[in-house]
Amino acid sequence: MKSVHLPSLQLDDKVVLVTGASRGIGAGLCEALAASGATVAVTARRIDDAQAVVDPISDAGGQALAYSLDVTDLDSIQGAVDSVISDHGHLDVLVANAGLGFNAPALEVTEEHWDQMMDVNLKGLFFTAQTCARHMVERGSGRIVAMSSQASLVGIPNHVAYSASKGGVNQLVRVLALEWGPRGVNVNGVAPTFIYTPGTAERLDDPVFLKSVVDRIPVGHVGQIKDVAGAVIYLASEAGTMVNGTILSVDGGWTAQ
Ligand SMILES: NC(=O)c1ccc[n+]([C@@H]2O[C@H](COP(=O)([O-])OP(=O)(O)OC[C@H]3O[C@@H](n4cnc5c(N)ncnc54)[C@H](O)[C@@H]3O)[C@@H](O)[C@H]2O)c1
Repeated sequence: MKSVHLPSLQLDDKVVLVTGASRGIGAGLCEALAASGATVAVTARRIDDAQAVVDPISDAGGQALAYSLDVTDLDSIQGAVDSVISDHGHLDVLVANAGLGFNAPALEVTEEHWDQMMDVNLKGLFFTAQTCARHMVERGSGRIVAMSSQASLVGIPNHVAYSASKGGVNQLVRVLALEWGPRGVNVNGVAPTFIYTPGTAERLDDPVFLKSVVDRIPVGHVGQIKDVAGAVIYLASEAGTMVNGTILSVDGGWTAQ
């Protein structure tokens, strides 16, 4: 067969910063990114939590370092990004994963609840992206993957603040893709359905709730962290070179209905 250039999904020589990596999807993404060859900057609000994710990656032969980063604190974002660039020479990919996910009926949402959600999911994500993009735009190269949700695309009862924050993430992705795409920085979002993580386990372990969720997922099961990792690695890799301004659903078809 004539040789064909298959676009690579490997991330060798790429430095990838992941926010909210202390547990759940963020921690799993760090493992998957390291297994794909990336050098991973594992960030969490507490450095000890980041280090706990780094240790097994290092033990398995992967490249990872721990940093403290709180997405609601602009000095903390700048400090972490400066440290990553100083330690590794450059930063290629941001995976803006940090997020809050509590839910409540709209009539019971408080101002505090609303502000917390927006501060982390939307404002925090934007200023992390802006800080990383200053470096990436100067280099003329970079990728930003923002963690959205299926709740950004369809209405789900009791998710009003969460949905509004993630809908904001999608619009942020589209605008940044137009501004930074021409300068070498692709910006995309990933919109998962329910993923089994420590944060969702309590609800998904309830068979009644699980059935109500699975009934809405055409493939017939909830997602796993590796499903999200596949999308993130694709968008971060050579294979995703032409993808910019897209919200990639990883939802088994929930939002196709
Ligand atoms: N699990 C799901 O079903 C699901 C579905 C769709 C989208 N998502 C999104 O995926 C992302 C990860 O979700 P998860 O299920 O792993 O949740 P999780 O609660 O297990 O993890 C969220 C992470 O964000 C961190 N975080 C919170 N506030 C922060 C701050 N101020 N600064 C830095 N980090 C902070 C937490 O410490 C934690 O590590 C979130 O953005 C979430 O909205 C999750």
